[in-house]
Parts: sequence; C-alpha cells; structure tokens
Amino acid sequence: MKILHVSAECYPAAKAGGLGDVVGALPKYLSQRGWSSAAVIPKYQLPWFQARQFELVYAGAFRLHNVYYPFAIEKELGDSLGFPLYVVNLPGKFDRPGIYGDATGWYNDNAERWVFFQQAILNWVLNMPEKPAILHCHDHHSGLIPFMVQHSLEYRAISHIPTVFTIHNGEYHGAFGWEKHVLLPAFEASASGLIDWEGAINPLASAIKCAWRVTTVSKTYLNELMEYSNGLEGLLRTEAAKCSGILNGIDADVWDPATDPYLPHHFEGNIDSYKLANKLALQQHFNADLDLPVFTFIGRLVREKGADLIPDLIARVLSEGLGVSFLILGTGEPHLHEALADLQWRFPRRCAVVLAYNEGVAHQLYAGSDFLLMPSRVEPCGLNQMYSMRYGTVPIVRSVGGLKDTVIDIGEPNLPGRGIRFDNFTLNDAALAIYRAHELYHNPSSLSEVRERIMAVDFSWESAAENYIDVYDNL
Ligand code: GLC
Repeated sequence: MKILHVSAECYPAAKAGGLGDVVGALPKYLSQRGWSSAAVIPKYQLPWFQARQFELVYAGAFRLHNVYYPFAIEKELGDSLGFPLYVVNLPGKFDRPGIYGDATGWYNDNAERWVFFQQAILNWVLNMPEKPAILHCHDHHSGLIPFMVQHSLEYRAISHIPTVFTIHNGEYHGAFGWEKHVLLPAFEASASGLIDWEGAINPLASAIKCAWRVTTVSKTYLNELMEYSNGLEGLLRTEAAKCSGILNGIDADVWDPATDPYLPHHFEGNIDSYKLANKLALQQHFNADLDLPVFTFIGRLVREKGADLIPDLIARVLSEGLGVSFLILGTGEPHLHEALADLQWRFPRRCAVVLAYNEGVAHQLYAGSDFLLMPSRVEPCGLNQMYSMRYGTVPIVRSVGGLKDTVIDIGEPNLPGRGIRFDNFTLNDAALAIYRAHELYHNPSSLSEVRERIMAVDFSWESAAENYIDVYDNL
C-alpha cells in the first residue's frame, strides 16, 4: 500500500456528506493508476458494518502516558469498495449508532474519540512491516496526525512519512481546550505551538501548520479560506506555498444514468424521453404537479448549504404565480422542517417535501428533476451539482467555491454554459435565477442543448486523481 487515507467517513460504509463520497472513490482510482491505496475509518455500529465480515489484521494497544488502550485493526473481507478498507475497532468509542452523534445529539466525547482513533492508526503504522509511503488525512478528525507523527516521541520511527491533509470542510476545526492535552501522547514541549490556535488545541489549524502538503477541494475554496475561515485566514496565507486546490471527481461507475440500479428508467440515448420517464416516476415519492418545471433541493437542511433561503424563495415565486413545482429531500434544522412542512400545506402539489436522507430517492431526483437548487453560503467543492449534470439536471448555484469552478452560466458569451449562477445570497438574486430557469425550460431547443452538454462533461475521478498523484509524486 502506497497511500493510506485516514477519514471519519467512507461511502458506502459510513457517510454523512461529501467527505464519505470522496474517500469511498478516490482510493479506487489512485490504485487503478498504480498508486495502491487503502482507507481506514472507525468501526461504527452502523448497518453496513453489521452485514459484512472482517478479518483481524492487527491487535495492539497505544500508550497514553501510563495507560495502554487496546484496539484492533480489521480489514473488510472481499474488498467490496474496490480497494482495501480497514476499520479501527476501539471499544467504547465507536461502537455506537452514529458517526458524529445520533438521535440523542452530538457525542460529548468527540475530542477523545478522534484523538484515540488517530493514535490507534499511528500505532498500527508503527508496527506495520511495510509502511505506507504517504499518510493522506481528511478533515479535522485526522488533523493531529501530521503533528503527532513529527513531534511525539512515541512515533519518532515513522516521522519520515510525508503527510497530506485535505480540507473538505473548513467550518469545523475540531478544537478543544488545553485541559484535554492529556489525550495526546507525550510530545516535545517546544512544539506545543503547533497544535495551538488562539488558546485552544485546534486540529484543523495544526494540520495546516504540520502537513507536508495541504489541499482544498476546489481552487476557489482555497482563495475563499484565505479571506474567511473563522480565524484561520492568516494561517492559510502564511502556508500558501504548500497549499493547492484540487477539484473532486465523482464516481462515474456509481453515478451512471445508463446503469444506476436506483433509476426506474435508464438513459438509453434519448435525453428528453429518459428525463420525462424519470420525472413521472417521482410521483411515487412526491405528491406534486410534475407537468411543470421541477426544481429540487437535495441535502442537509443547514445554514451552510443556504437551506434557510429555500422556504422564503418557494413562498415568493409560488405566491407570484410562477408555474413551477418544488421538491425537497433532506433533513436538518428543526425550524426548517417546520417551515417546509408549512409550505407543503400552503401550496399543495406545488411544493412536496420528504424530510429524510434517502440515497435511492436522491438518485431518482437527479434523474427526474429539471433543475437542482444549490444556494450554498459555503461550498468547498460540492458534488451534487456534478451528479445533477451527469443526470441531465440543470444546476442553479450560488457563485461560491467549487460551484463557481464547475458551473458556467448559460448567459456567458462564447462559453459552453452549464447552468445558472447568482452571486449574492439574497432572495432577489435567487428568485431571478428561478425566473431565468423557467424561461430556459420554455425554450425546448436551448434546454435540450444544455442537457446534452452537461451530460457529456467529464467529472470523473480519472483526471482528478491525476492531480493528487502530482502531489504525491512531488513528495
Ligand atoms: C464537504 C463539502 C462539499 C465537498 C465535500 C467533499 O462535504 O461541504 O462541498 O464536496 O466535502 O469534498
């Protein structure tokens, strides 16, 4: 194994968001290109794990001051993801029904869970007969690895292994108070500044300081983080020389409208008839008028995704009498659940809501909708706009992060337009985007042209993986 990816999520084993999709696909494409890769995540008590078999590959204990914490590394039998998936079995920490929390809320020992996870992995690597060439860490849950590898006495023997750190979501730093420093293995006192940020232990900041290379999941997002990242902007600017933006790909084997097992109707060459058949099939899940242009929102109903704009936007365009329907799939903040349920009642058959996370229905929505709404406040890369384009659904996005890097506005002269963009996070701008989409819908030849173009764009991991290989090669 050349590259070991360390992450909290890996689809289909454990996914809360796009991080899971990326870690579930990237190792496969790296391996295909000669960079044999594996991923390691915690062993959660989620349904996927219960339905699989694992073999023990290493049983050990990491030493924290004078206590030894036992753990096991197991490997999924059969490599069903297309690459080896290792899981850390840490009794009492991850044998729970959630990744970050569950129905009862966020786990209140998250700092401890992630620090232990990382130490178990380093202890395993330390004892591997053949070590990975590079440790590739993703988001703050593995953000202390670059520091621990280099500065803790325990892991001296592997301090030569280069670390790469990818920021998928810089909103979360994973910070905790210095009183918890005892969770970390002993390290050189002079290095303590490398984990500190503004008086707390900050795994995200530490990773930016200590990793040999830092990547973000789009170029625009890197620039945005240097302007605004909850206090880390100066740090990112200082470390700019080792930072780069690499756009994610999508797993074109999983996301293929010609073979996707979730779709009631596959794409067989005629885009319009494939779209229409899938649109009508949405009737099964959504009580809505599907003769009209259909606008969809899929994802977490949270502020970051701009979901708080959606209820006002729907109310505005529907009360103005525009002939469109809205379908919403997702879960999130309770006040948004209420607002959306209320809209469904106010505008029957024009607004239909499924307050759930459902992978199958999501695929059907990408295939059957006309437009996908992504009014994100922050969007490091965004995968939904890429899924939607591959399935022939025109994205309507706010010009931020990866959305800006992947969606060219149809109004741009001499450029191959892929969707509709708006700049300001305001009701007016978002409503204007809906009106523009409505106009496109009623111009069938332009709509067909855009659909044809977006379905042909290559968002596959093949080219994205190449950019990571450049980073590894350099190291
Ligand atoms: C996070 C980001 C999203 C990105 C994904 C994968 O979920 O919010 O924009 O696509 O990570 O990198």
